[in-house]
Amino acid sequence: MQHMSDTEFERTCTLISRVLGLEMRAKRVLLECRLTRERERLELPSFTAYLNLIESGANPRAFQRFVDLVTTHYTYFMRESSQFSFLEHVAFPELEQRIPERPWKILCAGCSTGEEAYTLSMLVEEYSRSRSLPPVTIRAIDVSEPALEAARRGIYSASHIDKVPLLWKSLYFSREGEQFRVVQSIRNRITFQSAKLGDANALRGSYDLIMCRNVLIYFTQDAKERALNQLHRHLEPQGFLVLGHAEIARDREKFTYEGNSIYRKQEASIR
Ligand SMILES: C[S@@+](CC[C@H](N)C(=O)[O-])C[C@H]1O[C@@H](n2cnc3c(N)ncnc32)[C@H](O)[C@@H]1O
Repeated sequence: MQHMSDTEFERTCTLISRVLGLEMRAKRVLLECRLTRERERLELPSFTAYLNLIESGANPRAFQRFVDLVTTHYTYFMRESSQFSFLEHVAFPELEQRIPERPWKILCAGCSTGEEAYTLSMLVEEYSRSRSLPPVTIRAIDVSEPALEAARRGIYSASHIDKVPLLWKSLYFSREGEQFRVVQSIRNRITFQSAKLGDANALRGSYDLIMCRNVLIYFTQDAKERALNQLHRHLEPQGFLVLGHAEIARDREKFTYEGNSIYRKQEASIR
């Protein structure tokens, strides 16, 4: 295997930080492995040639694959179930009181292959049973096209859905051979879209609840702060922000802490 030189590695990290706001300097082996296979697939003689191609913008598909290869898509249904329990027992009852009439708007930022958005939609479905809730819309965004394609497909293997409660499996999945397909009623409230947290117009509108879990953890300090400000701007007053367990929003003028990596937009700080 032809290794990346230190200069090529630094150039790769600078490009990733500029394009995606990600800090990858601690992940040299992983980056080299993933990008070596890609460079070979494209039959390019060196990493310098590969980086020239990606930076030139001449091959949009290669650029999309680059974005997909340098991002981490690990996710699963019911991830951090205690946070979903908070939504069911605290956030949803509060929204029900506070917003009885207009639709509830939810954003999943960094939705990967769809498991988080589908879990949320199943939770909404359960919660709305025997209640008359307004419609709930879930906008799910990601930078990776292949991840979004898998999310839109919404078909998973048995091992993928092993954390889903049995009753939910029978209600919210239909069997397709060896695979399991998310049913239409759960899909209907979700729109999967390509958008990059950090881009000026990526978030559009304002949300009552934003889930942005295990995304900021890979961001540079600067990109993290900018993303948190952006998420804050796009939350309704008192809206909820759910982060991953290794992620913190420190600015108490913007967010109050509800525990369990869940925050609430400060009442006084209206956009
Ligand atoms: C580790 S997954 C987290 C998936 C899910 N939120 C969870 O917690 O299970 C992180 C996802 O964030 C996406 N991502 C990274 N940077 C992003 C950005 N600037 N805007 C939108 N999505 C991004 C990646 O493509 C990846 O699919």
